[in-house]
Amino acid sequence: MTEPVVVTDDGPIRVIRMNRPEKKNALTRPMYVEMGRAIREAEVNDAIRCMIFAGSPGAFCAGSDIADFLKAAETGEFDPRILEFLDALVRCQKPLVAAVGGLAVGIGTTMLLHCDHVVASDDATFSTPFLKLGLVPEAASSLLASQRLGHARAFSLLVMGRPLSAPEAKEAGLVNSVVEASTVDAVAHQAAHEIAELPPSAVAISRRLMRGDLDAVLARIDTEVAHFKERLRSDEARAAFAAFLARKK
Ligand code: COA
Repeated sequence: MTEPVVVTDDGPIRVIRMNRPEKKNALTRPMYVEMGRAIREAEVNDAIRCMIFAGSPGAFCAGSDIADFLKAAETGEFDPRILEFLDALVRCQKPLVAAVGGLAVGIGTTMLLHCDHVVASDDATFSTPFLKLGLVPEAASSLLASQRLGHARAFSLLVMGRPLSAPEAKEAGLVNSVVEASTVDAVAHQAAHEIAELPPSAVAISRRLMRGDLDAVLARIDTEVAHFKERLRSDEARAAFAAFLARKK
């Protein structure tokens, strides 16, 4: 059976690859668990100096699995497994690179706000259709997107749900380089190796200084979750989830 998250170590680089291409790498709860575990494990492994998030050709990640959201709407709970992943992402001390080869939706885009270096394919798109689903931004994106892109671009992306193309994402400061799709992984690896060759303690200190107040980031996630839980139960959100799952192609 193919695993929905494949973790491989290539010398000092850990690659965490989302591998559910038939669902465009929409993240199920077990996938969140596996990704969180891979990050935590790398944290305590001195041999790992940098991590890469990667996806499948054409799809980095289509966001959280909407069938899981519909289930959560029934229970009214925000799954702690997502929170554990977010906690690992925020607390992670090692540099994070992303190789975005195609669509990045919802958490597929917001997780990039926690990454240090993002390589995108020229056909990549970045979107956060939270509002269209009756939801609110998550993963501290309500804080980090404004800091990274400026309020106007963050509002257009997060609230209006307007997607960014790869060149727009680069121009906005979300992405470092835009490359031909077949080279995304290789270019991300090159960047990861470049980082891994630097003195690790100096990298860790510099990264910590540059990331600012992580308690504020964690607190923002808690505040977003409180709203998100309430929104999940709303008629607007339930109707949007059901419509997506019932849609005819
Ligand atoms: N949750 C559950 N299933 C999803 C999914 C998601 N977030 N995103 C894609 N899928 C599934 C589709 O239902 C489809 O399954 P099926 O073949 O069994 O019908 C399969 O993945 C392929 O998706 P499809 O819609 O056919 O591909 P596409 O290239 O036409 O469109 C997307 C891709 C990502 C634009 C579209 O699937 C989409 O809008 N997904 C929802 C994204 C979203 O709202 N995420 C949550 C953000 S908070």
